[in-house]
Amino acid sequence: MSKKITPYKDSDLNKKKQVEQMFDTISTKYDGLNRVISFGIDVKWRKKVINMVAATNPESVLDIATGTGDLAISLAKTGAKEIIGLDLSEGMLAVGRKKIAQENLSKKIEMIQGDSESLPFEDDRFDAITVAFGVRNFENLEKGLSEIFRVLKPGGIFVILETSVPTKFPFKQGYHFYSKNLLPLIGKLFSKDKVAYSYLSESAAAFPYGEELNNILRKSGFIDVRHKPQTMGVATIYAASK
Ligand SMILES: C[S@@+](CC[C@H](N)C(=O)[O-])C[C@H]1O[C@@H](n2cnc3c(N)ncnc32)[C@H](O)[C@@H]1O
Repeated sequence: MSKKITPYKDSDLNKKKQVEQMFDTISTKYDGLNRVISFGIDVKWRKKVINMVAATNPESVLDIATGTGDLAISLAKTGAKEIIGLDLSEGMLAVGRKKIAQENLSKKIEMIQGDSESLPFEDDRFDAITVAFGVRNFENLEKGLSEIFRVLKPGGIFVILETSVPTKFPFKQGYHFYSKNLLPLIGKLFSKDKVAYSYLSESAAAFPYGEELNNILRKSGFIDVRHKPQTMGVATIYAASK
């Protein structure tokens, strides 16, 4: 089990409520900040996720922890007939719904509030499921993954995009400096919620990645588990099947 890192250290709320509160607070700034803190490289990583999903010709796709819906919107390119974005934070979903309306995709993409650890869907429901920068925020990772496994169709694809930690010199040292010093500073400059960006680096450092996360996926029942580090290992794409 990974160490539990929560956004607000003095809060009595559980991790899930704190995460919801934090994302509600930063929702209107989230998209801009996202591009700044990843220097825009996240766009390239997201494209890879979309290509992996598109290659399976899915009819129905669920994007968990969809936030402001960037991945859900790009999933429309896969040709899927139905796309559902699910998130804990109403604030994030509200920003996403506006973007979806602007793109004229409201008929295809539905954004619903929900919890990845108790998904409101029947078994074997989706051809493909994605989570971008979300699994690290789950209160109970194993529970979230077993729910995802339950609602994925046999033979369906599950793709995770998540931050990871470079292991090789000099990227390891560079990343450490960036996440400990620059990231919280950027967070402070752009958002009122300073806490959010210290949480981002702390939770990334404590979260299992690479083979460790692969093993957790296998324990949750997934097969054909594989991963590919991106950009010196600052993020990793995981794929698995059922
Ligand atoms: C860093 S954001 C990622 C948003 C989006 N996927 C993206 O790539 O920009 C993480 C999101 O996970 C959501 N989240 C965290 N725990 C969740 C859970 N248990 N169920 C659903 N959403 C959750 C948060 O509300 C937040 O919007």
